[in-house]
Amino acid sequence: MEINGETILTGVFGYPVKHSLSPVFQNAAFRFYGLNWVYIPFEVGPENLKTAIDCIRIFSIKGVNITIPHKRETVKYLDFCDEEVKVLQVCNTIVNENGVLKGYTTDGPGFLRSLKEDGKFAPENKVVFLFGAGGSAYAIAGALVRSGISEIFICNRTEEKAKMMKEHLSGHFGFENIEVVPFEKRNDSSIWKKIDLVVNTTSVGMRYDDIMLVDPENLRQDIFVYDIVYNRETALVFYAKKKKLRFLDGCSMLIFQGAISFTLWTGLEAPIEAMKKAIDAFKIKRP
Ligand code: ATR
Repeated sequence: MEINGETILTGVFGYPVKHSLSPVFQNAAFRFYGLNWVYIPFEVGPENLKTAIDCIRIFSIKGVNITIPHKRETVKYLDFCDEEVKVLQVCNTIVNENGVLKGYTTDGPGFLRSLKEDGKFAPENKVVFLFGAGGSAYAIAGALVRSGISEIFICNRTEEKAKMMKEHLSGHFGFENIEVVPFEKRNDSSIWKKIDLVVNTTSVGMRYDDIMLVDPENLRQDIFVYDIVYNRETALVFYAKKKKLRFLDGCSMLIFQGAISFTLWTGLEAPIEAMKKAIDAFKIKRP
């Protein structure tokens, strides 16, 4: 890639940011189209977030992704927020349109596209078991509810947070088929009989010795398994693979949320396969 006076800048603001895979697949997408664009990791400490966002205008940066820990704080510096940002009060993508900063959040839509396009799974009228009640869980549960699932079971180690998420979902979407499952009851087989899709949005699985939250006995052959952990093959994904269940890991969601950002900046369809290929080498396989 040759940088010159015409090069268009994009990047990611995070803290830390060194381990982000976004520069790897976004630059691969630019190369795919032969675009004179570049995607740079910017390590932005919390005290510098406002200044960094001002710099988007000053340096005519076309767009940035926003990652941990800035997704919530960024919202107050935007000139325009899309519906998803208004509902979730988090932003992971900024588009600079002639100095006007527009904020989007692509996690929910990215998850859904990944589920449909990579997983060939149609969420309409399906019953979902969702582990977790953090930021990713809100985005994913919201996307699933909007896509027409019939029922969702939410289970979180801290039950209070699952209850808050239930209130959020019924308040924003008028969706009432939500059951909070106490963490110790997570393997109640009477629930699992009904489940079509299980989604792990917790960080359980990020460490090699992490266990599975769901008892393998409950994973019927026709259940679809989605684990959003992307830095390694989790015990859940390993099991799903071994048992030949349909499954996806977090790399798919990572690519699709990035693909939506790419399209917001460039107006082009994202080259999904080229982006996936770029991160293949970075996946940690189980020994
Ligand atoms: P993110 O924004 O990626 O969703 P988060 O908001 O920090 O991250 O949420 C992390 C989720 O992983 C939470 O649901 C958390 O449960 P708690 O609300 O009880 O903290 C869950 N989590 C983290 N470690 C866990 C563990 N060892 N067992 C079960 N759940 C865990």
